[in-house]
Order: sequence, then C-alpha cells, then structure tokens
Amino acid sequence: MVSKLSSDRRIHSIFTVALTSLLILGTARLVFDYLKHSQSQFLRQLSTLAWEEHKLPLVNISREEGIEEGCNLFEGKWVFDNESYPLYKEESCPYLVKQVTCQKNGRPDSLYQHWRWQPSACKIPRFDAVKLLHVLKGKRLMFVGDSIQRTQFDSLVCLVQSEIPEGRKSLQRIPPRKIFKAKDYDLSIEYYWAPFIVESISDHATKHTVLKRMVRLDSAAKHGRQWKEADILVFESYVWWMYKPLINATYGSPDRIKEYNVTTAYRLALQTWANWLESNINPLTQKVFFLSMSPTHLWNWEWKPGGDGNCFNESYPIEGSYWGTGSSLEIMGIVRDVLQRLKTNVTFLNITQLSEYRKDGHTTVYTERKGKLLTKEQKADPKNFADCIHWCLPGVPDAWNEILYAYLLHDYAHSLAVEE
Ligand SMILES: *[C@@H]1O[C@H](CO)[C@@H](O)[C@H](O)[C@H]1NC(C)=O
Ligand SMILES: *[C@@H]1O[C@H](CO)[C@@H](O)[C@H](O)[C@H]1NC(C)=O
Ligand SMILES: *[C@@H]1O[C@H](CO)[C@@H](O)[C@H](O)[C@H]1NC(C)=O
Ligand SMILES: *[C@@H]1O[C@H](CO)[C@@H](O)[C@H](O)[C@H]1NC(C)=O
Ligand SMILES: *[C@@H]1O[C@H](CO)[C@@H](O)[C@H](O)[C@H]1NC(C)=O
Ligand SMILES: *[C@@H]1O[C@H](CO)[C@@H](O)[C@H](O)[C@H]1NC(C)=O
Repeated sequence: MVSKLSSDRRIHSIFTVALTSLLILGTARLVFDYLKHSQSQFLRQLSTLAWEEHKLPLVNISREEGIEEGCNLFEGKWVFDNESYPLYKEESCPYLVKQVTCQKNGRPDSLYQHWRWQPSACKIPRFDAVKLLHVLKGKRLMFVGDSIQRTQFDSLVCLVQSEIPEGRKSLQRIPPRKIFKAKDYDLSIEYYWAPFIVESISDHATKHTVLKRMVRLDSAAKHGRQWKEADILVFESYVWWMYKPLINATYGSPDRIKEYNVTTAYRLALQTWANWLESNINPLTQKVFFLSMSPTHLWNWEWKPGGDGNCFNESYPIEGSYWGTGSSLEIMGIVRDVLQRLKTNVTFLNITQLSEYRKDGHTTVYTERKGKLLTKEQKADPKNFADCIHWCLPGVPDAWNEILYAYLLHDYAHSLAVEE
C-alpha cells in the first residue's frame, strides 16, 4: 500500500510497452485471418457437396444441473488433474490461432494445461460439449471485447468443435467478427472486436490504430446494432484503457476531443453501454454476462520478492493469497456500481482472482509478434519479448468457459423446471 503511487506509475509505463507489442500483433493477425478466410470459403463449398442429414446425439439434462444454490464459483483453488485436463488437445483443434499454440511454438513445459479450477463450496459441473450444444441450439452467443475476449471465443470453439462432424461446422472471418457455426444445431458462437466496448478509432479490425487512441464515450449505437440480435452476450474490456493514466476521448460534441482520467472515462463508457443495454435487451429472452479483467503478470517481484523478470519460465500457479497491482480495484468497483444499478440482469463473471494465481498460463515467448513467431534471438530475450497478458490454449480461458457453461446449463435446467 505504501508504494501504491509509484507502483501505479510503473504499471502504466510498462503496460505501454506490453500493449504496443500486443496491439500490433493483433492487427497483423486479423489481416492473416482474412486471407485464410478466402481460402476456407472454397473448402466450405466443397463440403456442402457432401451434405448429408446428421442426427443430433441425445442428451439428458436434469432439472438439478448447474450451480448449487449460493455457491461462489470464483472462490477456490487450482487442483492438478492430469486425468481429465486439458479438455481438448492443442493439436486437435484446427481453429486455434498461432498466437496461443504454445506447445507448437516450442514451450518446453506443459503442466499449465492440467489444472482444474475447484471452487471451495461446490463443484463446477463437468464440461459436456454435447450438452452445451444442446443448450445453445437455435441461438447466437456473442463475445464482445478485445484480444483477451478473442481467446475466450477460441477456447469455447475448441471446447465444442470435436463433437460436430466435418462439414457440419464452419469458421468465418468477417471483420470485426469471427463466426463459428454448427449447422445441425442452427447455432453460432461469435466474436466481435470492440476493444473499448464503446466506439473508438481502434474499431477497425484490421487497420486499427495502436499508439493513438480516441474513444467516443457516449457512442455504442453503431456496435449495438450488431449485438442486438444475439441471444447471449459476453462483454469484456480492460487492458486497452490502461495504456496511460489519461486517455483522449469525446463526450457530446464529436469534435471536442479532450483528455480524460482513465477511471472517469471508463465509468462514462460503461454507463453508455448500460443505457444501450436497458433500451435494447429483453431480459426475458436474452442473457448478458460481463467478464471481469484478465490479470497480467508483468513483474515477478510481485510474487517472488527481489525478482526482476516477468512471467517467463513460470511453471506453477501461485499458492496462497495474491492480487497483482495490474488489476485495478477501482475499475472493478466501477463495473460493480454500474451493474448494480441496471434493471437488466447481467451476470458478472468475476474471473480475476482465479486467473491471478496463474502466472504460469501466459504465452510468454511461445507466441507471435506482428504476425510472425518470435525468432530465436527474440525468444532468448524474455525481458523484452515475453507476452504476460495473453494466455496459452488449452489453458486458463477454458476455466472461464467452464464457469460460463455452468451458468448457461443452470438457466437451461431451471427453465425446464419452470415448464413442468
Ligand atoms: C499424472 O501426474 C502424476 C503425478 O505427477 C504422474 O505420476 C502420472 O504419471 C501423470 N499421468 C499422466 C497420464 O500424465
Ligand atoms: C491526446 O491527443 C493529443 C493530440 O494528438 C496528444 O498530444 C496527447 O498526447 C494525447 N493524450 C494522450 C493521453 O494520449
Ligand atoms: C484520476 O482518478 C484518480 C482515481 O480516481 C484520482 O486519484 C486522480 O486524482 C485523478 N486524476 C485527475 C487528473 O483528475
Ligand atoms: C528457469 O527456472 C529454473 C528453475 O526455476 C532455473 O533453474 C532457470 O535458470 C530459469 N531459466 C531462466 C532462463 O530464467
Ligand atoms: C470479484 O472478486 C474479487 C476477489 O475475489 C473481489 O475483491 C471483488 O469485490 C469481486 N468483485 C465484484 C464486483 O463482486
Ligand atoms: C440473474 O441471473 C442469475 C445468474 O444467471 C440468476 O441466478 C438470477 O436468478 C437472475 N436474477 C433475476 C432477477 O432474474
């Protein structure tokens, strides 16, 4: 607490370096994704020739499934479980992007794939892809946010895709969206790039500005038109705000750009989002989630006194209580305030604490930068090149999705109970 001010300053300046590389990386990948898209269109056309009616597997979801009454899913510990985890294999999910395939990119240890999140007071239902497909039948689930959110999207696609036969599933890239479809279930799982949730000059999925940012704190309508039709929405936005203590933004007149305190700006933006939600979402037919901030592990002195490195070379989760200084409780408080005042029921997925423990889960140097895997020289320089913001897959975001699954299953089972 004593060094709060100076460490805050350090956070901001180091976030700058980390973010710059992360954002450039994002741009290049989307361009690449787009090229791949045109190629896969041809393959999709081929697969429709082989069209054939597939029967859906039977599922049995009972009324009791989901989350035990009063259980806090976000409080607990990581348990090593190499029998059941990972829930899918890195090499068996064709949709994983290079950014997250840490094993393929040369990461020597793989223990990080084998941890199960175990709440203290109850169990998370075992992930069952067929059940989730059944729950999502006829629906559109959309993740909205930045590249962290894109990893959660990738994770969910990998969690379900193996249960869908070849030719009955597809992945399209139509920036700013990525759309996974399961034909026989008439469902889609989508990702929508909106790093600030509200509008900004960084919204172009392939040509977004990285160093210059300008946020329109009072505008969500343009994005909102594309969110409106989703049945389930999962929002997330944090790391892009944390570039500098101040951020250029407009509120009201689009020509009056001014510097705002980041916390002030975040509150205004979230309120704009909340207003959009209240007038566009029908809580009886649509469900909304908000994912709390994904923690970063940029300085190992935070868990290893005297250290001067980062998350590189970390193979085990942190044990005991831990909260990194990069996770702003002030921002967390703003989210809580705004959600509490909403009439619409938004489920807060408070994954920050559980992810804080996972200093071992980041991509570090086993990832790409500007669309290319790190070179040997870059890999040998983790101080400058390790990415301690993004996560390997399979990995930590799978646990976020297991929790999302628990909520969706719970609601579905509960609606069966009401029908009876
Ligand atoms: C799982 O971990 C245990 C303990 O570390 C080890 O003895 C065992 O061989 C591992 N099993 C597999 C399938 O990797
Ligand atoms: C805001 O924009 C002005 C003009 O482009 C620039 O000089 C200033 O550094 C920006 N402020 C921040 C916090 O980025
Ligand atoms: C920005 O917000 C923080 C936290 O609310 C506050 O401590 C600080 O004084 C504010 N800075 C400015 C320039 O208003
Ligand atoms: C990685 O960690 C191991 C054991 O904790 C240590 O022996 C090794 O020197 C570390 N390597 C680097 C490059 O920091
Ligand atoms: C989320 O969890 C953290 C740590 O467990 C807690 O401090 C915080 O108050 C929670 N946030 C909300 C909005 O409930
Ligand atoms: C809000 O959503 C949560 C989680 O899905 C659920 O447990 C709760 O009953 C809902 N509340 C209302 C008022 O619908």
